[in-house]
Amino acid sequence: MPTALPSHETLLARIQSREARIGIIGLGYVGLPLAITVARAGFTVLGFDVDPGKIVAIDAGKSYIEAVSSEILAEEHRAGRFAATSDFDRLGDCDVIAICVPTPLTRHRDPDMSFVEKTCRDIARTLRPGQLIVLESTTYPGTTDGLVRRTLEAGGLKSGHDFFLGFSPEREDPGNRQFQTSTIPKVVAGDGAEAQALVVAFYGAVVKTVVPVSSTATAEAVKLTENVFRAVNIALVNELKVIYEAMGVDIWEVIDAASSKPFGYMPFYPGPGLGGHCIPIDPFYLTWASRAYELPTRFIELAGEINSAMPRHVVEKLAEALDRRQGKALSRSKVLVIGLAYKKNVPDIRESPSLKLIELIEERGGSASYYDPHVPEIPPTREYGAFKGRPSVAWSEAEIRAFDAVLIATDHDGVDYAAIADWSALIVDTRNVFARRGITADTIIKA
Ligand SMILES: NC(=O)c1ccc[n+]([C@@H]2O[C@H](COP(=O)([O-])OP(=O)(O)OC[C@H]3O[C@@H](n4cnc5c(N)ncnc54)[C@H](O)[C@@H]3O)[C@@H](O)[C@H]2O)c1
Repeated sequence: MPTALPSHETLLARIQSREARIGIIGLGYVGLPLAITVARAGFTVLGFDVDPGKIVAIDAGKSYIEAVSSEILAEEHRAGRFAATSDFDRLGDCDVIAICVPTPLTRHRDPDMSFVEKTCRDIARTLRPGQLIVLESTTYPGTTDGLVRRTLEAGGLKSGHDFFLGFSPEREDPGNRQFQTSTIPKVVAGDGAEAQALVVAFYGAVVKTVVPVSSTATAEAVKLTENVFRAVNIALVNELKVIYEAMGVDIWEVIDAASSKPFGYMPFYPGPGLGGHCIPIDPFYLTWASRAYELPTRFIELAGEINSAMPRHVVEKLAEALDRRQGKALSRSKVLVIGLAYKKNVPDIRESPSLKLIELIEERGGSASYYDPHVPEIPPTREYGAFKGRPSVAWSEAEIRAFDAVLIATDHDGVDYAAIADWSALIVDTRNVFARRGITADTIIKA
């Protein structure tokens, strides 16, 4: 007698009893914290990654992501709730699979879906009835229902009938200790009612609050909306910064005072340019997808234009200040950039404007070094390969005094700004770090 296909109820029961085995593909900033959170919710988790170094680290109980402590990772690994592998044939052993691989842009600033596509082909090889596959990587609306479904269904099994498909965007805020993966509300959507019930049950078992929406395309659009919102608002304050600068008005003071309004205002802060894996990239997933509908994305493109002009604006201010205050050309100056990471208190340098600042200073003939307590040397990057291996300067009075100017690009907490104010002849501050600490000096200018 033929056995009945595993129904969504079978998987639902396995999720509820925590017997369901969970696979997480891509153990980076998103995947590793998720894997640990799922393991701590009582599931057995198998992580998959193409990077053998990550598998070795996990086997040794060592975390390589700040949000995950090595103690907790080692504890989950020892207890047998979390292991990692590069053997993608084991995907067939998993009941639920979450995809957390990168979704960068190509050189032409179009979505690079190659990681998602390869992962879907890996899953398709061992896809079996009753599995739930959830895409977590940020992407354009229609990816789950298009590329992902098509690739998974290539072997003949059908979403909603044989296997189940969903999308749930990640909301990480690296360096923010107020939230963990489990306490950040999670938007979820399934392809059809049964998949929807499964994603709600699975994520409901793992995070405190689940926010179901009606389709995977809606869930994909939610994530892009959140990041477009940030990109546009940051562009707005960056534009205001330049205008107020010309008027002799301090944007930081304006924002602080405007924030006293108890309704209808939310503060965003200017900076030397956008950084990180999300805000500089995700909006372009939407502009790319909109082309198929012949719809303009003026807000997004304008925000991109303003934000990407910021590093040049900052270097221009630096050159002006060197000339006016030191009588020195940037081309004959030594500049120390403080902070290589794209945001404070993290070691992540992806898309960091500091790299662009170094490039621009060097393009103009100046010499640029950096100091960052979180980044001892520049790791390999796609766009700035030539910077690989450059070390952070050592922290000492003699080292810092040797520079003609210090440029604050990242406001890490662990930097002694009072010492910088004492030792430096010229400081260009893009983060308002000195004023926020009550440090004043004629040598400090904001940019
Ligand atoms: N970093 C964030 O704060 C953040 C926040 C929200 C959403 N996201 C989104 O989450 C996704 C993942 O981002 P991330 O920051 O974790 O990236 P990451 O680069 O830190 O991690 C991705 C991991 O996937 C691995 N990988 C690459 N190709 C693979 C493959 N074919 N099979 C298995 N593993 C593979 C890499 O080795 C790496 O360990 C992206 O879509 C990103 O936009 C990131």
